[in-house]
Amino acid sequence: MPKTALKHLAIIMDGNGRWAEQRGLNRTKGHEKGAEIIRDITTYCAKHPTVETVTFYAFSTENWKRPKLEVDFLMKLLDRYLQKELSTYQDNNVCFKAIGDLDAFSPKLQQRIALTEEATQNNTDLTHILALNYGGRAEITTAVNSLMKEGKTTVSEEDISSALQTPYSNIDLLVRTSGEERISNFLLWQLSYAEFYFSQTLWPDFNAEELNEIIEDFEQRNRRFGGL
Ligand code: IPE
Ligand code: IPE
Ligand code: MG
Repeated sequence: MPKTALKHLAIIMDGNGRWAEQRGLNRTKGHEKGAEIIRDITTYCAKHPTVETVTFYAFSTENWKRPKLEVDFLMKLLDRYLQKELSTYQDNNVCFKAIGDLDAFSPKLQQRIALTEEATQNNTDLTHILALNYGGRAEITTAVNSLMKEGKTTVSEEDISSALQTPYSNIDLLVRTSGEERISNFLLWQLSYAEFYFSQTLWPDFNAEELNEIIEDFEQRNRRFGGL
């Protein structure tokens, strides 16, 4: 019997570039393969008995620092991905949501995101969140500013939690691929009591079988939340 049930899984999908470079390919090929892995992991999570939400880090507020060609490619890939995967969401009863500052994206991409959210809003087996132009510090700062606009002069933890884009979300488990062991500004508030798992696998080589093993490892952990 699992000691602890996984409800909200967060994933930092890292290593696309290195995967491609190791094969003498352009980094964009790694991003293309990486996008396909999201589909497999999403369908696995939709069928999993306890997982309710999976949040993928797809583009950080810092990723704009990359060469323009790579950023432009990622934007096009995202648009293609959403167009292609709508049927995956519908077939697997998956509700799609995006978090992050979407205003920075082209009107066409913003429209695609909105359409995908709208079309899948009544699906209930899994909530699939893509973090796009997302930064944990930016999310907290935006939340505090919106509370001040409402006229608050002091704020509680509950106020901040409910003003975040992910209000319902304490993360249970964070998985990062590619051997890097850092948060890179992901979900800073929501990760406060998350368990961490760092996989050596590069994201394009990741699969549902490995995730299943990681979840089994998580289920045996003893989460104390500061108690005994
Ligand atoms: C993760 O893979 C995808 C994004 C950040 C968009 P990377 O592109 O960071 O791959 P590496 O870390 O360079 O191998
Ligand atoms: C984190 O990966 C962001 C995403 C996976 C979208 P990065 O590759 O951008 O992070 P750093 O630069 O290695 O910390
Ligand atoms: Mg990286």
